[in-house]
Amino acid sequence: MSVAVEVRGAAKTFPASPAPVHAFGPLDLDVAAGSFVAIVGPSGCGKSTLLLMIAGLLDGSAGEIRVGGRPVRGPLTEIGIVFQSHVLVDWRDVLGNVLLQADLRGIPRAALEPRARELLRSVGLDGFATRRPYELSGGMQQRTAFCRALVHDPPLVLMDEPLGALDAMTREQLRSDLERLWMRTGKTVILVTHGIEEAVQLADRVVVISPRPGRIVREIEVPLPRPRTLEVCEQAEFHALVGEIRRLFASYGVV
Ligand SMILES: Nc1ncnc2c1ncn2[C@@H]1O[C@H](COP(=O)(O)OP(=O)(O)OP(=O)(O)O)[C@@H](O)[C@H]1O
Ligand SMILES: [Mg+2]
Repeated sequence: MSVAVEVRGAAKTFPASPAPVHAFGPLDLDVAAGSFVAIVGPSGCGKSTLLLMIAGLLDGSAGEIRVGGRPVRGPLTEIGIVFQSHVLVDWRDVLGNVLLQADLRGIPRAALEPRARELLRSVGLDGFATRRPYELSGGMQQRTAFCRALVHDPPLVLMDEPLGALDAMTREQLRSDLERLWMRTGKTVILVTHGIEEAVQLADRVVVISPRPGRIVREIEVPLPRPRTLEVCEQAEFHALVGEIRRLFASYGVV
């Protein structure tokens, strides 16, 4: 299987007063095309920084990152990004938000609208295309953000705590929505999360990062069958993987 993202010796130190902040690295990571990789680590260990560097939105201090075999030198356009909050613009309706990418890139709406509508339908939002974000629940807003990240059919989707701002029940619902979307579209996904169970439920591989400066301390394959239904998540193997990660963090004094 080909490699979608290669991170080699990447590190980031922010110049700050009184002392620079060594956020993370050096760090090596390979993400196979079509795979779902979750990155878990404590607050401040550099997860968002790494994601921004992969997206080409932030320069690293060392190392190299390649996406689709090409070194990242500036903002990538052929990716989808989902951020934790403030994701939608209130002056556009739901469909308009999903089509924001098309408009920003000067792609005719008609070219992407059928796909936008199909994505909205697949997450149960078909009746909401003409609503404004403030008329939606938090979970519905986040589903809209997933659709927006996928509408231009990018091979790589980066997600930074996409479910972090939601209540527990909505989060569980959206986990399965997210898995279903991923299984249907075959994208490469890198998901940053604080949620250990969320990481194990969604990912093929969980990358565990140490406290700052963040380094990879373990990579854990998740061989559980999909879709990861409630039954799968009640299996002993699921709990064993969650426990393994929790103990790792405990050894760093994090949980
Ligand atoms: N623009 C910046 N200028 C200076 N320091 C920064 C900047 N961005 C991040 N940092 C520092 O780098 C470190 C890593 O930040 P980052 O946001 O990547 O952490 P994180 O792992 O995403 O944390 P969280 O889980 O809380 O979102 C932190 O100590 C933060 O203060
Ligand atoms: Mg972050």
